[in-house]
Amino acid sequence: MLGNFTYCNPTKIYFGKDALDGLKGELEKYGKNVLLVYGGGSIKKNGVYDKVISILEDCGKKVFEDAGVMPNPTYEKLLEGVDRARKAKADFILAVGGGSVCDYAKALSVSVHLKGDPWDIYFDKFKEPSCKIVPVGCVLTMVGTGSEMNGGSVITNRYKKLKIGHVFGEEVFPKFSVLNPEYTFTLPKYQMVAGIYDIMCHILEQYLSGEDDNTSDYIAEGLMRSLIKSSYAAVKNPTDYEARSNIMWTATWALNTLIAKGKTTDWEVHMLGQAVGAITDATHGMTLAAVTMPYYYHILPYGLHRFKRFAVNVWGVAEGKSDEETAVAGLKAMEKWMKDIGLVMNITELGVTPETVEDVADATRVQEGGYKVLTREEIVEILKKSL
Ligand code: NZQ
Ligand code: ZN
Repeated sequence: MLGNFTYCNPTKIYFGKDALDGLKGELEKYGKNVLLVYGGGSIKKNGVYDKVISILEDCGKKVFEDAGVMPNPTYEKLLEGVDRARKAKADFILAVGGGSVCDYAKALSVSVHLKGDPWDIYFDKFKEPSCKIVPVGCVLTMVGTGSEMNGGSVITNRYKKLKIGHVFGEEVFPKFSVLNPEYTFTLPKYQMVAGIYDIMCHILEQYLSGEDDNTSDYIAEGLMRSLIKSSYAAVKNPTDYEARSNIMWTATWALNTLIAKGKTTDWEVHMLGQAVGAITDATHGMTLAAVTMPYYYHILPYGLHRFKRFAVNVWGVAEGKSDEETAVAGLKAMEKWMKDIGLVMNITELGVTPETVEDVADATRVQEGGYKVLTREEIVEILKKSL
């Protein structure tokens, strides 16, 4: 049942080859001091940095830079950024990069004027910001997380060996995001397919929950079918604009709150994957891929009806066999697709060893919206099967 809800997504999207044309008009709405946040340098190599700087100059902005945001951005980096943003008296934060840069920018936006420790307040106690929030805009260069149109911010605390996401409310969503599929052409294949799996996993975390038949389920199935088709085309030809633009738009809709409506939502694959990431610092999408099959086979008996529907409506498995046989055929089709596009299928390859499985289990948070609430023993069992 869909029940009662209020729906608002405040992020304005500029999409397509000319998307950056929207940046000037957006920047003019904000103050002079802009903190330009980016990662390890890919934007300098592919020319996006120069284009953005030229627009900032055109707008007469005073630009301060906060570079070096790493994949899986850390709490230590966040504290450094807070210091920079305060010194710059930042009126606006412009994030240019992937999910890590966008997530970091959002964490920064709620920490610049915070009195207190951001980890403690946002990533341990999960409080909502009560301080002034510095507005954020994004120019996206890596596709997968959906960070460009949501309130999510995932920060890694290396000292505590935790990787935690806070889903902030509307006021923390980016004010706008610039989505030009061509900016993603320079992504290494490993990152591209990791992002593709991140999208798939976001959709499944929402689709594989609850028993009801509602609009969200049908939208989710359409998004997955589009993603599977486009992923094959993008792997074959990374500069296939049609495929890359479909993937980019699917990523945004996979996690911008729409398809969660009417669903309890699971997120346990993300909890397992984030725990793997906390211990190994591996690429987010790969951490999800590596634990997926053992987790899904484990919960299949509890969500048989939905796994059967997934097999038939998404993977085109013919009906007529037992529900279990049909559901398993769907998972096998999904596993084949995962291998075909080149995903990492075990956590050993990502750096987890039999000795560190318990550390990963310690870092795994248990969610309650899926088909089976995992016990500690089940988490360890799934992780061992993922080795
Ligand atoms: O740092 P640079 O040099 O820019 O290189 C990056 C990075 O090494 C590179 N890259 C990005 N765009 C590129 C490019 N290389 C060449 N050409 C380009 N156009 O790609 C690498 C990975 O970038 P990153 O931003 O880390 O990847 P992603 O977008 O997958 O973000 C991952 C982070 O997002 C979090 C993850 O946990 C992880 O920390 N998530 C955020 C979510 C949200 N906000 O809702 C939800 C997700 O489930 C996820 O947890
Ligand atoms: Zn994800």
